[in-house]
Amino acid sequence: PIGPGLEKITMRLFRKKAAPAQPRRIPTHIAIVMDGNGRWAKQRGLPRPAGHKAGAESFRTIANYAKSIGLQYLTVYAFSTENWKRPADEVNTIMGLLKQYMLEAIDSMERDQIRLRFLGDLSALSPELQELARRTNEISSHIQGFQANVCINYGGRDEIIHAARRFAADCVNGVKKPEELTEADFAHYLYTDGIPDPELIIRPSGELRTSNFLLWQSAYAEYYFTDVLWPDFDESELDKAIASYQKRERRFGGRK
Ligand code: FPP
Repeated sequence: PIGPGLEKITMRLFRKKAAPAQPRRIPTHIAIVMDGNGRWAKQRGLPRPAGHKAGAESFRTIANYAKSIGLQYLTVYAFSTENWKRPADEVNTIMGLLKQYMLEAIDSMERDQIRLRFLGDLSALSPELQELARRTNEISSHIQGFQANVCINYGGRDEIIHAARRFAADCVNGVKKPEELTEADFAHYLYTDGIPDPELIIRPSGELRTSNFLLWQSAYAEYYFTDVLWPDFDESELDKAIASYQKRERRFGGRK
């Protein structure tokens, strides 16, 4: 007689093998539009600059957490080419926060093994900020590991125009030939030269726009939108964004 034991064995023989648990796919590069600082401040009856201060704190928290979970690159949008239109005290606050961050970074990045890079047209910044950016870049050049990219006076179209100009100049100088330009070649002219494209782009605060952020680099990125305001965006919010990314199937225009 076939006992329950044998039944179990035959069932096991015919049962489809369970799919192996998906290894945790941590993206290599996450980019974030740090949005909602103004509304966060307004909700608390505070002036807008207070929102940016809280936003800079969120950036510190998220950068440290990103490094701890094995992310290699984190890119944040700190100041766009259009943000100069904001009131002077708000622009000054953001520039002040960037300066403070650069000064801190110069002291701590070697110890913490965090590379820092500033992306954008830095020529419009004060000579002091340009010098601090140059120093952080210099220190970063002999550090390995996690890299935080802070976009300042950055615009996706502006970046592409800068790249096109530099490529055209190389053509005029006979270094390059227009008909030989490839996508990979063109990417070397972008501010993000050497940085892999982000797999995941996060925009908090309920806005559903790309706002000129990483136009070229976002071609195949997954987007994650949340209503949480940037100053409230903490480690668990980043976990949620990554979990959402991990559930998606990336096809790069192909088929399974
Ligand atoms: C957008 O929110 C945010 C900015 C224009 C500035 C972001 C800058 C920082 C967080 C400081 C940067 C400092 C470091 C150290 C990286 P918003 O003001 O447009 O918000 P709102 O849409 O609610 O008004």
